[in-house]
Amino acid sequence: MAAPLPIACLNGAFLPLAEVRISPLDRGFLFADSVYEVLPVYAGRPFLFIEHIARLERSLGEIRMHSPLTRSEWATLLTELVARNGGGDMYLYVQVTRGAEEGRNHALNASLVPTVFLMACPLAPLDESVRITGVGAITTQDERWARCDIKSTSLLANVLAKSRAADAGETEAILLSGGWLREGSSSSVMIVCGGVLHAPPYGPEILPGTTRDLALRLAAEAGIAVRIAPIAEATLRSADEILLSFATRGVLSVTRLDGKAVGTGRPGPVWSALAAGFAHYRQILAGTPLLPAG
Ligand SMILES: Cc1ncc(COP(=O)(O)O)c(C=O)c1O
Repeated sequence: MAAPLPIACLNGAFLPLAEVRISPLDRGFLFADSVYEVLPVYAGRPFLFIEHIARLERSLGEIRMHSPLTRSEWATLLTELVARNGGGDMYLYVQVTRGAEEGRNHALNASLVPTVFLMACPLAPLDESVRITGVGAITTQDERWARCDIKSTSLLANVLAKSRAADAGETEAILLSGGWLREGSSSSVMIVCGGVLHAPPYGPEILPGTTRDLALRLAAEAGIAVRIAPIAEATLRSADEILLSFATRGVLSVTRLDGKAVGTGRPGPVWSALAAGFAHYRQILAGTPLLPAG
């Protein structure tokens, strides 16, 4: 993984990442009392800006915080961070913690000033081999908490699941619970059966995915039937295609699950249609304003 780009932003101040200092008494550090977002940037423009900020606002609301910035202030901050790092393609990491306090107290303290940290990271183009062969995934039990709809930095169970995939030489860990598909350790999961694109319903068990929402919209626009309903493990295992979606990579095709070929063992037609749809949509958005005028 490439090192982050040099300029970061802490509480509105732009500075070299190496000079960023955050207190050990910050609740983000002590309790993972914080939420985050990851947004891709193409040709200098944050992609799906409103969708990511709306999800950040929702995550903050669910942990009894308000967004410390307005949408217009976020747009200004993100645009400036991108420019200070040379523009082009990258991704932005945005984290808001509840802030630092005098001691280590579990209960919330409403008077704290949130810590707002942003950094930019390189976004390498997708490896050609991934387009041709897809990626491998393992399945593992979902060991996370009961509010996975909040994009919390409390990611230890995700870290352990992803590490199990890495140990097996695979890209992603697909999480199962009680015989049902949840999502990936850092991605949404959709499947294709008989030409229909299936995705599990949103609820406290999974994160609403910005990339998944766009994928389902582009699929419907391309005439692909979409079905939102719980997906049983057996259905996952017999799918013609398994798709992962996440902000930094768009949609990837899983062609190997637990060592067995998925469908033909090659990226399928729905993945191809969505990959083309995403490339087209990025071009449409290029140069458009982040927020509607007025
Ligand atoms: C657990 C989890 N689910 C789903 C997603 C996909 O969300 P998005 O498409 O907004 O990146 C992510 C992305 O980080 C994730 O960590």
